[in-house]
Amino acid sequence: MIDTPADLLEKLSGPVLPGGTIGIFGGGQLGRMMGIAARSMGYKVHVLDPDPACSAGYIADTVIEAGWNDRWAAANLARESSTVTLEIEQVSILSLDEAARWAPMRPGAAMLAIIQDRVEQKDWLNKHGFPTGPYRAVRSQEQLGEAVKELAGPVFVKSARGGYDGRGQAKLGFGGDVVDDAAILQAWQDVGATDCVAERALDLAKEISVMVARAPNGEVRVYPPAENFHENQILSWSVIPASVPDELAARAQNIAGEIADTFALEGLLAVEMFITTDGQLLVNELAPRPHNSYHGSERACTTGQFEQAIRAACDLPLGDVSMVQPTAIANLLGDVWLNDDGTEKQPAFDQALAIPGVRLTLYEKLKPRKGRKMGHLSAVGATADEARERVLAAKARL
Ligand SMILES: Nc1ncnc2c1ncn2[C@@H]1O[C@H](COP(=O)(O)OP(=O)(O)OP(=O)(O)O)[C@@H](O)[C@H]1O
Ligand SMILES: [Mg+2]
Repeated sequence: MIDTPADLLEKLSGPVLPGGTIGIFGGGQLGRMMGIAARSMGYKVHVLDPDPACSAGYIADTVIEAGWNDRWAAANLARESSTVTLEIEQVSILSLDEAARWAPMRPGAAMLAIIQDRVEQKDWLNKHGFPTGPYRAVRSQEQLGEAVKELAGPVFVKSARGGYDGRGQAKLGFGGDVVDDAAILQAWQDVGATDCVAERALDLAKEISVMVARAPNGEVRVYPPAENFHENQILSWSVIPASVPDELAARAQNIAGEIADTFALEGLLAVEMFITTDGQLLVNELAPRPHNSYHGSERACTTGQFEQAIRAACDLPLGDVSMVQPTAIANLLGDVWLNDDGTEKQPAFDQALAIPGVRLTLYEKLKPRKGRKMGHLSAVGATADEARERVLAAKARL
């Protein structure tokens, strides 16, 4: 608890040691797993989330029930915390600024303000020489029509703010669909008739992501790239390390490290990237927090992403990120719990866990819904292929 500027100065100087309290904006699965890492290291955990029954509620000391733009609640979270971090990028800048008055806020509001808006994020990347695919900022239905013409080919339309797992997105001109005025109106409405970005749909050979951690003192650690496979724009499975040539992995890691330095990041940043069929390496988007594609880092790397997030937030030395063993994860969406008629069933976890190297992580979400991330399976293997085959075989048994 701090009450005076001198108290804040003390909070800002030096590392936060065990016994301290980590404040987390967001109590979903990422906040939960960060909280578990923090507890394992001897910290207390305060969480702020709109849902008092959130996934992190089971492991937190306190849950403040509040929205992302509740400044008063943000101040309360930070006053009671030694340092504050986040699991979701949509916390309002005013709340982040308010938190920063009472405790170190890592990552900081300046970077979040850019990342929160897809247009600003892409403009920032291009301005700093980081390659993205072709896109247009769109603020009206008319502009969407023009953008589609200019981009010439199928496009993804994505709301500038607030989307995840493919929500707030529409597709135009796929599979030879005609893009007439009616289709454009429909897409504009599907993304919420709001500021958005139109992106040319690229021919992807592979998707990878690179997690980078940067401490307040400037120390940087770049993880080995993860290879990601999406279905219906939602991550389905992911493997560390990605099967890509060493040269390309090094280039991807370089990009991630440079982005972290340019932002003067304090915390984690996942850089999602596309490898196109014509060999380009492009940045898709940035996530300033732990990332679904790095759940495997808990087993693949010497230091997992959640512990690393806590180390960065506490200004502790960052952990080694070298490979321990190839690891794959497969997401478990609510669909796995649902019969065709919508009734619930119990997945056959006993069958899945019989496969060597397989582990189960569930997020204690009570209600399975289609597309809702409920947990994941992980598997280690002698090779990345073996790890992936095991995790997919385990999932198939559910
Ligand atoms: N321009 C594009 N060309 C080809 N595929 C794309 C493009 N944009 C998106 N996709 C596909 O859709 C997936 C999700 O897109 P994106 O990362 O922009 O959305 P999101 O809603 O932020 O998703 P998430 O929260 O899972 O990261 C990508 O990983 C990719 O598989
Ligand atoms: Mg994405």
